[in-house]
Amino acid sequence: MAETVAEPAPSDGGVSSGPWSRNTRFTDRGLEVAGHSAEALAERFGTPLFVVDEDDFRARCRSFREAFPRVLFAVKAFPAHELIRIAVQEGLGLLVATGGELETCVRAGAPASAIVFHGNNKSVRELELAVSAGVGLVVVDNPQELERLADVAREAGRTQAILLRVVPGVSGHTHAYVDTGGPESKCGTPIEGGRAFEAVRLAISLPGLEFRGLHAHVGSQIGDPETFLAAADVLLELAAEVRGELGADVAILDVGGGFAAVYTDEAPPPLNRVAGPLLGRIREDAAARSRAAPDVIVEPGRALVANSVLTLYRVGSTKRTSGGRTLAAVDGGMSDNIRPALYGARYTLALAGRRSAASLDSVTVVGKHCESGDVVAEDVPLPADLEPGDLLAVATTGAYGYSMASNYNRLGRPAVVAVRDGTARVLVRREDAADLDRLEVSAPPEPQVHPLEGVAIRPAKQRDAASYLKMWTAVVAERRWVRTEQVRYSVRGYRRMFRRPVTDDHARLVAVAWGNVIGVLTIERLNHPVNRHVATLGMAVEASWRGKGIGAALMTAALEWARSAGVEKVSLEVYPSNVAAVSLYRRFGFVEEGRLHRQSRKSYGYEDEVLMSRWLTTATGTSPAAGTSPTL
Ligand code: LLP
Repeated sequence: MAETVAEPAPSDGGVSSGPWSRNTRFTDRGLEVAGHSAEALAERFGTPLFVVDEDDFRARCRSFREAFPRVLFAVKAFPAHELIRIAVQEGLGLLVATGGELETCVRAGAPASAIVFHGNNKSVRELELAVSAGVGLVVVDNPQELERLADVAREAGRTQAILLRVVPGVSGHTHAYVDTGGPESKCGTPIEGGRAFEAVRLAISLPGLEFRGLHAHVGSQIGDPETFLAAADVLLELAAEVRGELGADVAILDVGGGFAAVYTDEAPPPLNRVAGPLLGRIREDAAARSRAAPDVIVEPGRALVANSVLTLYRVGSTKRTSGGRTLAAVDGGMSDNIRPALYGARYTLALAGRRSAASLDSVTVVGKHCESGDVVAEDVPLPADLEPGDLLAVATTGAYGYSMASNYNRLGRPAVVAVRDGTARVLVRREDAADLDRLEVSAPPEPQVHPLEGVAIRPAKQRDAASYLKMWTAVVAERRWVRTEQVRYSVRGYRRMFRRPVTDDHARLVAVAWGNVIGVLTIERLNHPVNRHVATLGMAVEASWRGKGIGAALMTAALEWARSAGVEKVSLEVYPSNVAAVSLYRRFGFVEEGRLHRQSRKSYGYEDEVLMSRWLTTATGTSPAAGTSPTL
């Protein structure tokens, strides 16, 4: 057993064990999740890496389902499609906060009727989306939104079931940034001054809306069960008023999420210590008033997923500051976990790739971003022999880690891998440079290409065949840049191919230096009648001639041919790792249009292919449609 952390405590039903997921173990080989060693996962999938203990997540979903009658997974905590699907499989509904989260759930395959849509400032477009998709409930924030939603629903010829979000005036006693129940909250309509009551009156009066009940969410990471009771009491009182004075039914009470997770030494109450008193209070109230108890909804995010996920980082360097602190720098940081910087959140860490017998040192683990606030964990106990190359695991990163991740400093977001006994599968792949560029639709001005001394760019000639074969064989042997790994034609084949190097349908261009072919570009019109305005191209330059403008010169000639042939659009596929080629294409106005995953099976493994294209018919060089697709 490693000495840095205790063996994970046995689970007590899923929500209040230690920080590590139930299938995390510390063995002689280091840390394992569901039998997969951290080192093997890191080697296979790279770091930083989010590792989801799938059965742990399922178990937490089930624990909530057993404790509460209706449970929604607040997908904002970790909106990965597969986690959304798992939650639905486990009988949970889904809570979304924006049109984006709503679309994510629908695209993941969730039934719209299982979705509840809240949010303090939904746009008309988002409300239209919710109504047309057929979400089960909209949690309306305020009277203005009631009117807006009623209009949208009427226009769509529908009646939308709603809850009203109330600010109960109960503080969550949590970090100020995630306390939403107090008098200054921006979420919901205040109970004070009868404002929530008046909003309900309005809701009932509006055609297009079906008032179903009340909602409150007092904050996140709430450790005290009394807080939930206090919020429920406020809702019960308002419900009684609504029934008594407006004669309306309050069929649903949604008491929000906010159930705490374990990060370090917190000891949140077991779920049944929250659920028992809460449901009891609501039942008693109903009994006292001789009526049926309302349906109770809870909407946890953090407590479902935080402890099911850990992050693996690789240590890059260690140092001692002149102030005497020991630092270990890892390969991620505030871009994959903003919570320490934003909320001062604390975490539990462990050496993950090996066992160490060294004594414990107090180490501050920092990220690789250019900010002093980029800290993963301050002063945590780690073995004194921690060194570059070591793997570190951070527990409890499942909630609001990936979902709040950014590309700061142009770091791609980490991959997300789900593990179970015997299987490890990528749920979300790692972002690479091409992903980071994919929204770039601006193109630089057409590059000025200068003539190259001693290099001719011209249509291939039959006598180039032998020299061409030599150049092509060398490029193919590199295996990295062109698809082909085997040269398919002989000199004779190329001679035949070069008989008609330029037609209306294609151009085979070469760069020639001192009689030797040093580069090639083939551009070809697509032959389906509806695609004939498009030409695709491929090119290669012999290794020792790269970086000298040969590619640019070939491209210029190719585009000249394309224009003269009446081609409107030029497309190509490139491996995203081919930085030189991508930057050349970008200089010529090509923008990314998509990606074919693992489209090439090379001798060394799979490669994605990125589709890039440019238009010849618009001044900007971008697709006429770029940037005009509707957004929420
Ligand atoms: N329901 C409503 C209306 C919410 O606003 C939230 C979270 C939840 C449910 C789920 O809360 P949970 O069970 O996950 O605590 N980024 C912050 C947390 C923000 C929570 C926002 N609302 C963090 O990293 O601590």
